[in-house]
Amino acid sequence: MKKRIPFFAGNWKMNKGPSETEKFVKQLISAIAGDDAICNALKANEIEVGIFPPFVSLERANSAIKSADVSISLGAQNMHWEDSGAFTGEVSGVMIKETGCQYVILGHSERRHIFGETDDVIEMKIRKSLNLGLKPILCVGETLEERDKGITEFVVERQLKEALKALKTHQTFETGIVIAYEPVWAIGTGRKASDEDAQKVCAFIRSFLENNFGSRVAQEVRILYGGSVKPDNAKGLMSQKDIDGALIGGASLEVESFLGIITNGMS
Ligand code: PGA
Repeated sequence: MKKRIPFFAGNWKMNKGPSETEKFVKQLISAIAGDDAICNALKANEIEVGIFPPFVSLERANSAIKSADVSISLGAQNMHWEDSGAFTGEVSGVMIKETGCQYVILGHSERRHIFGETDDVIEMKIRKSLNLGLKPILCVGETLEERDKGITEFVVERQLKEALKALKTHQTFETGIVIAYEPVWAIGTGRKASDEDAQKVCAFIRSFLENNFGSRVAQEVRILYGGSVKPDNAKGLMSQKDIDGALIGGASLEVESFLGIITNGMS
């Protein structure tokens, strides 16, 4: 059984063009080199650190990452489900792969709620990313209204069921699908879910995986929490049994807070 390595993923959203990206990655690499605990954990494969810049900055991020003597993962924040064609303004998974990405975030709540992405669209993207060997980070989570109605688990189950519909066998999970539980009301608001509430939903996600794909999948798939993760709340979250990492927005934009989360989350 593959061990679940804690994953600290920085979702930059629409921040940092190519030059700022290069500057940030260089700072990140030198800060990691000067931090024995993080550096050793990365070298020993005990943690994974990834960044998710905007499309136009991916190539520059990839070149900068290659100069590091530790490995930093790279991913995009979205992709189209076709390889190419008449889809003005879109970017395909094939293109993302060519820039050096191993991951792609799919179904982020901003995609769902601002850009109207449906469960069906997300399912097509998940299927394509897996076919391409791009590891998806599937985001699920309830709105405040849904939480107040007490239907969090119902909503999360529907999102998982729809997005993972095409996956019939556990072998598909070998590609390393990651799931991120991000309550919509906690994203960018400074209002994080309590450690216990976050753990409860992540445990529910793991039991969904167990019931639908078997215990090996449930034990191997990493489940991240996202939504107002900061250095001072990372430790509590990461010590929860079913939370295997964090998807970090705002606090991943500064090297200091990003590394602060990793340091506290590892301890
Ligand atoms: P936040 O964003 O950390 O700024 O709340 C998290 C996310 O949207 O992935």
